[in-house]
Amino acid sequence: MKALLIYSSREGQTKAIVSYIANELREGIEVDLYNIDDVPEINFSDYNGVLIGASIRYGHFHKAFKTFVDKHYEILNQMPTAFVSVSLIARKAEKQSPQTNSYTRKYLLATRWKPALCGVFAGALRYPRYTWIDRVMIQLIMKMTDGETDSSKEIEYTDWAQVKRFGAEFGRLISK
Ligand SMILES: Cc1cc2nc3c(=O)[nH]c(=O)nc-3n(C[C@H](O)[C@H](O)[C@H](O)COP(=O)(O)O)c2cc1C
Repeated sequence: MKALLIYSSREGQTKAIVSYIANELREGIEVDLYNIDDVPEINFSDYNGVLIGASIRYGHFHKAFKTFVDKHYEILNQMPTAFVSVSLIARKAEKQSPQTNSYTRKYLLATRWKPALCGVFAGALRYPRYTWIDRVMIQLIMKMTDGETDSSKEIEYTDWAQVKRFGAEFGRLISK
């Protein structure tokens, strides 16, 4: 049993989420884990399932993630796959499903990839690490959505129990 896990991450939160799932799976499954920017030539038939995680920046998933999926959707649709969507708006309980998280809903409608599982996770807010312009923009986004605007703060909103449950669900999916 072998799983392929890939992350598209800018400040490391999606990497942390997908790595957490990788570690959970490694209890009983062999796992290959890659950054989307360093994925080697893949022989998909080596794997029982694929999980791909990507974060939102200014309303969009990264181009590298979308390009990878566009290139491989046909083979992905022939095997068990899962999509992990990470954003700050997902800190709100009512924005944590593929239907109610508009970034996720729009992407799933637009892509030809049909993942069997989709998890929507809250990411992290790390004001001190952002450039000046990003800090101002995120403050604006947070203000508009009744969130934290104190630019000295770093807050991790990710619900690790939710990540663990999703990892277990993916493990069951590919073990069928
Ligand atoms: C420049 C920038 C723009 C962002 N834009 C959005 C956004 O439009 N909507 C949202 O919900 N979250 C937004 N976020 C929050 C990220 O999705 C969140 O911080 C996530 O944890 C980033 O994951 P990563 O570290 O794996 O890239 C933004 C973050 C940054 C730094």
